[in-house]
Amino acid sequence: MISFNAKSLFKPYFFKIICFFIGIFSIHAFCFAADAALKNGKLIEETKCYACHAKKSGLGNGDMIYTRTDHKVTSYSRLKTMVSVCNSELRLDLFPEDEADIVQYLNHQFYHFKNN
Ligand code: HEC
Repeated sequence: MISFNAKSLFKPYFFKIICFFIGIFSIHAFCFAADAALKNGKLIEETKCYACHAKKSGLGNGDMIYTRTDHKVTSYSRLKTMVSVCNSELRLDLFPEDEADIVQYLNHQFYHFKNN
């Protein structure tokens, strides 16, 4: 029979089960947080940035400003700078968290810089 008293918490099998669930839970929490950031970044990019990039680049496609062969962003730190420049210069009034989410989304979707 399984009995739940304080001592049983320290039995190896019980401890392993607890660790297992804590592990699963943290992996999920981490994945959901990362997923939410990417979704938020994508949504803001599509609503606030895409149309102007499509127009200004003359390419008719807002994604191509990030993928054009002579694109300006060549490192993760320059990506952060550029998002920040577009945000403040154009007075888009994004919160720093939203800016961070956009950076994460753009890197995930287009730039793929490592070491960030
Ligand atoms: C009113 C127009 C406009 C809006 C709105 C705008 N941008 Fe830009 N963005 C530009 C222009 C123009 C360039 C190209 C600059 C150049 O080539 O020197 C650019 C370039 C960029 C680049 C560099 C692309 C590359 O690799 O060459 C990034 C990153 C960027 N914008 C991010 C954003 C983000 C994120 C937003 C929305 C939060 C945004 N921009 C909103 C006009 C805009």
